[in-house]
Amino acid sequence: MCFRRFLSLYLLAGGVAVLAADLTGNWVVAQPVNDGTTRRTYFDLKQQGDKITGGIRTGQFYYHVADAKPNAEGGYTLAASMMDGHQERKTQYQVKLSGDELHIWTPGRNGRPPSESVAHRTAAGEGAMPAKIPVPALHKVRYNGLAKTPPMGWNSWNKFASRVDDASVRGMADAMVTSGMKGAGYIYINIDDTWEGERDPNGNITSNKKFPDMKALADYVHSKGLKLGIYSSPGPNTCAGYEGSYAHEAQDAKTWGAWGIDYVKYDWCGARNIYSDEEMQAVYQKMGDALLKAGRPIVYSLCQYGRDDVWKWGPDVGGNLWRTTGDIRDTWDSMMKIGFSQNDHAPFAAPGHFNDPDMLEIGNGGMTDDEYRVHMSLWSMLAAPLIAGNDLRSMTQGIKDILMNREVIAIDQDPLGKQGTRLSQPGEQEIWVRHLAGGARAVALFNKAGDRAKMTVQWKDIGSAPKHARDLWAHADVPLNGNQWTTDVPSHGVVLLRIDSK
Ligand code: GLA
Repeated sequence: MCFRRFLSLYLLAGGVAVLAADLTGNWVVAQPVNDGTTRRTYFDLKQQGDKITGGIRTGQFYYHVADAKPNAEGGYTLAASMMDGHQERKTQYQVKLSGDELHIWTPGRNGRPPSESVAHRTAAGEGAMPAKIPVPALHKVRYNGLAKTPPMGWNSWNKFASRVDDASVRGMADAMVTSGMKGAGYIYINIDDTWEGERDPNGNITSNKKFPDMKALADYVHSKGLKLGIYSSPGPNTCAGYEGSYAHEAQDAKTWGAWGIDYVKYDWCGARNIYSDEEMQAVYQKMGDALLKAGRPIVYSLCQYGRDDVWKWGPDVGGNLWRTTGDIRDTWDSMMKIGFSQNDHAPFAAPGHFNDPDMLEIGNGGMTDDEYRVHMSLWSMLAAPLIAGNDLRSMTQGIKDILMNREVIAIDQDPLGKQGTRLSQPGEQEIWVRHLAGGARAVALFNKAGDRAKMTVQWKDIGSAPKHARDLWAHADVPLNGNQWTTDVPSHGVVLLRIDSK
C-alpha cells in the first residue's frame, strides 16, 4: 500500500480507522430529474492496495468490478462487467478520490465526450441488488379472452421517450378521435417508460410529477371511448432506470387495475440482473397471474426482445403479444430487417396471441411514404399489433392515408389471426401471402431494390387463379386474365392485393 494513503487516516468516533484516500465504501451519484425523481448510481467499492472489487449499479444494470488499474490522472480505471442472459456486457469508468468526493468519468458514447459526475459516501447496502426471489413452478395461465385480433393503438416511446406526460397523453387521446384513428380501430393509448415515481411507505407504486393523477387520466381516456396502457419491468428497474415491479408484482397489478389500466407492457430490462433467461417464463407467468386478479381485463404485452423463443411459451404465461426482436428505429434498414425476419414465427400467431415485431414508426419522418407503406403492409401481413408511434396531433394527409387505410387494416385484423409467410424471394423482391377468413388471401409484392421492379405472381404458387383481386393501396379492383399477374412495384415499395376465389 502506498505511503500517501497512510497519511490520510481518519479516526472515526467509534475508534474505527478507515483510509480516507481509499475508495472503500458505498458511493452515490444522485442526479435530480425534472419529473421529481432522482437518478442514483452506486459504486460500492472495496480497496486493498491497488486491488479494487465491488459492484456498480447504474440505471437498469448491476456490474461487478472486474479489473482496476491506476491511471495517469492519479485515479483508477475500473473495468466493469455483467452477464446479460448468455452475453457479457462491459463498461469502464475513470474514478479519482478528491477529499470526500469521488469524481467519476463515464465513457463517452456515440461520439460524445466522457461525462464527469461526483459521488458522495452513503450508507452501506443502499442501492444494493435485492435478494433473488425464487421463481414459481410453471403452470398454464388462463387466457384473458382479449386481443382476438392484434391490438391497435398508440404508444409514447418512439416519438416522445421520456418527454411523455399527462398533457401529451390527453392530447393524443383527443387526436385519436378527431383524426379518425379511433374510427379506423386504434383504441389503446399506451404510456411507455418514464411515468414511474417512487414507492410510498406501503410499497405502492406512484406516478411521477409528469402524471399527477393516473386515475383521472384513465377516466379521461375512457371518456373518449379509448383504453389506457402502462409499462413496467419484472426487474427492480425499467430500461430507462425507473422503478420496476420486482417483488411488487401482485401489488402493482392491483394498483394499475384500480387506476383503470387496460394494457400492460412488461419489459425485461432490469430483470436481467436477477434472473437467467431460462427463468423468464416463470417470471412472466407471475405477472400473467397477477393481471388476472387486477380487477379488470388487461391486455398483457411481453417485451423481452424475442429471447428464449418466447413465441413458444408466450400464450402459456397469459401473454396476448410478445416482442420478437430488439427495438425498431425510424429507418428503412431497421424496419426492413425486423419485418422481413418474422417468417419463422408464423405458426405461433393465433387469435389472442400475436408476435410483436415492435411498434410502428410511420409518420416519424425517417422514411418515405413508400417505405411507410411497406411498413404498414408488412406489419399487416404479419398480423402484427398496429401500435402507432408518431405524434397523432400533427399528421400529414399522406401519413393519415397510410395509418388509416381501412382495407389494409382489415388484412391485419382478419379474424382468422393467421400470420402471413414468405412465398418467394427473387433477388431484392419478396412475395408474401396471408390466408384470410372465408378462403380469401392477401398477397404482398415488396420491392427492396433502389429501382422500380416488375414483379409477377404465379397463381399456381398460391393455389388456383383467383376470380377477383383488389389493389389495397390504389383502392381499385385489378383486371385478371391468366395464370399469373404482373405489376410494377416502386423502389422501396409495395403492391398489396386481396384476392378471392369466389
Ligand atoms: C426497451 C423497449 C422499448 C421501450 C424502452 C423504454 O428498449 O424495448 O420498446 O419500452 O425500453 O425504456
